[in-house]
Amino acid sequence: MSTGSTDQPSLEQRIEILTQQLQHAQKLTSLGELVSTATHEFNNVLMTIINYSKMGMRCRDDATRDKALGKILAASEKAARITNSILGVARNRSDGFEPTDMAKLIDDALVLLEREMSKYRISVEKQIGQVPEAMVNANQIQQILLNLLINARQAMSQGGRLLIKLDYDPASNMVVLVVRDNGSGIPAEKLPRIFDAFYSTKDGPDESGKGGTGLGLSSCHNIVEAHKGRIRVQSSVGKGTAFTIMLPVATTSNAPPPTSVLGVPTETPAMPDQSAPS
Ligand SMILES: Nc1ncnc2c1ncn2[C@@H]1O[C@H](COP(=O)(O)OP(=O)(O)OP(=O)(O)O)[C@@H](O)[C@H]1O
Ligand SMILES: [Mg+2]
Repeated sequence: MSTGSTDQPSLEQRIEILTQQLQHAQKLTSLGELVSTATHEFNNVLMTIINYSKMGMRCRDDATRDKALGKILAASEKAARITNSILGVARNRSDGFEPTDMAKLIDDALVLLEREMSKYRISVEKQIGQVPEAMVNANQIQQILLNLLINARQAMSQGGRLLIKLDYDPASNMVVLVVRDNGSGIPAEKLPRIFDAFYSTKDGPDESGKGGTGLGLSSCHNIVEAHKGRIRVQSSVGKGTAFTIMLPVATTSNAPPPTSVLGVPTETPAMPDQSAPS
């Protein structure tokens, strides 16, 4: 058996291997979360279709049948939107960046989480400015959105308000995404650790099977870094948390020029910014 030092990977090589394994684990966790969210949503839609079909067969008058068919049509269209969002992820496995409509990615993520948000009594508000396309990998940004939205939902166990804001910052020429909740907030001493891999304050997956791995925010951080973007968090215990993500604008974009500009930081967080370690 050879014990020669040349057979041993160097420290740098070992770090490289471990980093790759970590990124693979992050992708798998996100994919698992996406599949479980979509399956729950899909199942819910199927229940609607089954129940209204039964109603239409039971009550044979035109008015009831029209109503049942209307509900079945709406539910089927929603089912198609859910499968499309999964197929989009399955189709686009590349790591390439393309000019992307961020507002559409937000809508796709909300289709998947709509029912979950209403189940936990969370009202969702969108403020979507007219922004140019961003130069991103759509799958990876969808991964970020799901991570941030699920974290926000879990921070508001008694219900609450979720704000998703999309804007353009002319100074940096970046698209700015803000996800703000009015949930538990993060204590100042924990804030510097939240982007660490495997850092979690959750006991394990919740009743919907999500959370607790501690890979969500570290994967968001890695993805933003790969996009040469920025991520920062502002949080105040008992008041809420806001994550801000800035992503480069696609220079070849045909999007109309932006009409809105990034506003002054708003209400909730009273804490100083905690930028992600880079
Ligand atoms: N919106 C938020 N409000 C309050 N705390 C948050 C919020 N987002 C993240 N955190 C804190 O940061 C920690 C790390 O978040 P992260 O998403 O990386 O891991 P996780 O949610 O615990 O597990 P998972 O990997 O399954 O997402 C959380 O455990 C939680 O303590
Ligand atoms: Mg998480």
